[in-house]
Amino acid sequence: MRKQLIAGNWKMNTTIPESLELIHQLKERVSSSCPAEVALIPPFTSLSVAAAALRGTGIQLGAQNLSHLAGGAVTGEISGAMLVSVGCRYVLIGHSERRKLFQENDALIHLKLKMALSEGLWPILCVGESWEEREAGQARDVIKNQLEKSWNHFTPMEMRKTTIAYEPVWAIGTGKNAQPEQAQDIHEHIRALVDSQFGAELAQEVRIIYGGSVTPENSSSLLIQPDIDGALVGGASLEANSFYAIIEAVH
Ligand code: PGA
Repeated sequence: MRKQLIAGNWKMNTTIPESLELIHQLKERVSSSCPAEVALIPPFTSLSVAAAALRGTGIQLGAQNLSHLAGGAVTGEISGAMLVSVGCRYVLIGHSERRKLFQENDALIHLKLKMALSEGLWPILCVGESWEEREAGQARDVIKNQLEKSWNHFTPMEMRKTTIAYEPVWAIGTGKNAQPEQAQDIHEHIRALVDSQFGAELAQEVRIIYGGSVTPENSSSLLIQPDIDGALVGGASLEANSFYAIIEAVH
């Protein structure tokens, strides 16, 4: 049985005091009996204080990016080992904002995945089609292509540690979420791709979460779909009440 994951991607928001305030408010609500796994993904500058504030709560910590290189003369980058040492379990890889704003391609994303896994991090691999691609009937092929290039040469163990986040680019930050049936259709497609590459047993274990304008209002109808195993939440994770309402939508 897959445990749902609700992850809050804070993007380039929150100073250190703001991060601590948000964590303080969430800690009061999220109990150890929560049926979902909860992860917070603040900006790098808040990771250290967030790790300390989350100790003993069961809430996991993640980072928004990592370098594909191990370390050394790489000005401005953050290594997987650094993320592990600060207390991260998860790391986002291939978010559409990084693909678009920083020209991250599937080859680089593959290297980042391998680096994250070799350091012991659990990657959350983001894939998704643009509106034009969906309109042209290419959504399934785009996702297949992104996934196959990303998990090239993955061992079954590496696949098992990877969460896939389906985030249609047209739904991110736009207030236009995918309809639950549209999202379910792609999640089922992704699980079938995992099945054909890694086998049925692993396909049943891998978590596939949905992201793109998830709100307290639409979360129940998305999370109830059989192949949706949680949510990657941007805007609605910046406010404790709305993020907690999404966590509560997990049954
Ligand atoms: P959003 O962002 O919830 O604000 O659409 C989701 C994401 O980018 O992960």
